[in-house]
Amino acid sequence: MSSHRPKITVVGAGNVGASCASWMAERDLGDIVLLDIPATKDMPKGKALDMLQVGPISGYNSHLVGTTDYADTANSDVCVITAGVPRKPGMSREDLVAINQGIVADVTKKIVATSPNVILIVVTNPLDTMCYVAYKSSGLPKHRVIGQAGVLDSARMRAFLAQAADVAVQNVTASVIGGHGDEMVPLVRYCNIAGIPITNILKAEQVTAIVDRTRKGGGELVNLLGVSAWLAPGAAAGSMVEAIVKDSKLVVPSSCFLDGEYGLKDMYFGVYSKLSRKGLEQIIEVPLNDEEMAMVKKSADLIKETMKALK
Ligand code: NAI
Ligand code: 2OP
Repeated sequence: MSSHRPKITVVGAGNVGASCASWMAERDLGDIVLLDIPATKDMPKGKALDMLQVGPISGYNSHLVGTTDYADTANSDVCVITAGVPRKPGMSREDLVAINQGIVADVTKKIVATSPNVILIVVTNPLDTMCYVAYKSSGLPKHRVIGQAGVLDSARMRAFLAQAADVAVQNVTASVIGGHGDEMVPLVRYCNIAGIPITNILKAEQVTAIVDRTRKGGGELVNLLGVSAWLAPGAAAGSMVEAIVKDSKLVVPSSCFLDGEYGLKDMYFGVYSKLSRKGLEQIIEVPLNDEEMAMVKKSADLIKETMKALK
């Protein structure tokens, strides 16, 4: 990353993209380009202008530009890809493969063409499969293509745990690895409240209920809203950008290309990752017991099944 203000592009100026841009602007992470398709006409310009005008009120200087022209994204340091069709009630993440594969591949190629040093953060669903599409169509090394899922899924679990235990969310560490789907892998053994294992504080049935609610967290929001959630997803992707542009070495679960970790190869899967200005600096593989490995296998099998729908 160069010494200029970081340039961050968000492709897809819809619910998640706009929320992500707003979250990043509030933290003055850099200059932000919000891009959508020409069919959306001036919508991205309008959203960017609206956010620019929050600056004097909130006190940020992020410069925001809305566009439908990839020329405006040139030399981006980081690009968040939210372009695609969101999940509707009754529609599985897997149903989205066909449409979103075409969109993600096209967007990726266009971004990389003018931003050869970019780090991509994929958000489009089905997440782990779309990360694979972006990786393959980008030609970038694996440390520069990662996906957002685990930050959101862990945040949901942290929120539920904090509520149940009646403690500050800052005290709660929760770890959700695996695919971004109903077979995600909440690692109860690695969850704690101020370092105290959650099983010392909450009853077994409370933990089981929270694990279940976390797994179905996306669906719960779709049922309430009629479309998928955007505030926590936007913040989750924004926090990954923050870790990269600030070179903070934040350890969070993110979807990464695996080459043998947990016995998995040639696929994207949520694992503990250290994020820095390199993008993915390191995958941290943790010891898992038989039960946890069985969950990992089930989750990976679901992604492999989804990947079969790729053309
Ligand atoms: P949205 O419909 O509000 O926004 C999507 C935007 O992408 C639209 O403005 C659309 O015009 C744009 N778009 C479509 N094709 C495009 C293209 N070829 N180039 C540029 N822009 C294009 O949808 P929302 O709610 O923002 O969700 C976006 C995606 O993120 C969906 O796939 C959704 O399932 C996924 N998602 C993923 C989460 C995660 O944790 N990974 C969480 C929440 C949503
Ligand atoms: C979510 O988890 C549907 O991926 C979306 O909210």
